[in-house]
Amino acid sequence: MKDKILQLIRERKGAVSGEEISRGLNMSRAAVWKHIQELRKEGYLIRATPHVGYHLESSPDKLIPLEIKDHLNTKRFGKSIIYLEAVDSTMDIAFKLGVEGAVEGTLVCTEYQKKGKGRMGRKWVSPKGKGLYFSLILRPQMHPAEVSKLTLMSAVAVCEVLKELSLVEVSIKWPNDLLVKNKKIGGILTELSAEMDQVRFIVLGIGINVNTPLKQLPDVGTSLYAETKQIYQRIEVMQAILRKLEFWYDKVIQEGFDTMFERWKELSSTLSKKVKFVELNKEMHGKAIDLAENGALIIEDNRGVLHRKLSGDVEISK
Ligand code: BTN
Repeated sequence: MKDKILQLIRERKGAVSGEEISRGLNMSRAAVWKHIQELRKEGYLIRATPHVGYHLESSPDKLIPLEIKDHLNTKRFGKSIIYLEAVDSTMDIAFKLGVEGAVEGTLVCTEYQKKGKGRMGRKWVSPKGKGLYFSLILRPQMHPAEVSKLTLMSAVAVCEVLKELSLVEVSIKWPNDLLVKNKKIGGILTELSAEMDQVRFIVLGIGINVNTPLKQLPDVGTSLYAETKQIYQRIEVMQAILRKLEFWYDKVIQEGFDTMFERWKELSSTLSKKVKFVELNKEMHGKAIDLAENGALIIEDNRGVLHRKLSGDVEISK
């Protein structure tokens, strides 16, 4: 009911009278007032003018599902949303939901992660209410070996959105770090549940430093705010990412990965660079020359030998 009231007062430019709400939603004026009070507690600024009605002045800066779904215009992504103020990690919650059979496109998002997870066992610093921290459940009908290509696809989607919204030069460091001038603005973590030859589901975890001040980030981090001195509506950034992810996901499922690979290469800051590659504490130096058709990074070492790497970490050498 509270959501319906919100919808009514949000859609109207002027005020909506208590009388109209109570008639439209078949509830008493006292019940309307109670719901308005609840909305105010959630952070909605609602002006009540005697004999005129209720007017929505502003919405809270929170990832409220109703707000995310408003004008989202996706077919599946973000149609079902689990929102929690604070969690250890959205990955764990989404994974559990995946096991329980949650539909493709289910989104788990939060304001704050106590134990945000990064790739290779690192942690993801997730200051409260500043960034975007969410996980999306996907159920692609594909072989587990193909999943790393979906991770590259996600990097393409997020990179395109960050560039379009901020006009900042964001690039992708293999496989899916989002960088601005060599500092990390976002990252993607993929977790997989699979049988030998078929994916059950994957959880795509996305973290983006949106309005985060530099002092709340590790030295290697940056944010949209730090780069542009502007505050962004996190919900708009999230909606744009969900739309773009769905666009690329549908495209790769229907047409294959070729176009996405080309786009990844355009956005990459890794290809043609001298790199140090680290995997299980072993280092290799060489030049990143291309992506293989399975998404592996092809590195030519200093002796001219080609290596295909599907996991590990890459550092651009100076
Ligand atoms: C990385 O670059 O190392 C990947 C970072 C992924 C962070 C996101 S934030 C939402 C989701 N929940 C987590 O605990 N991690 C991912």
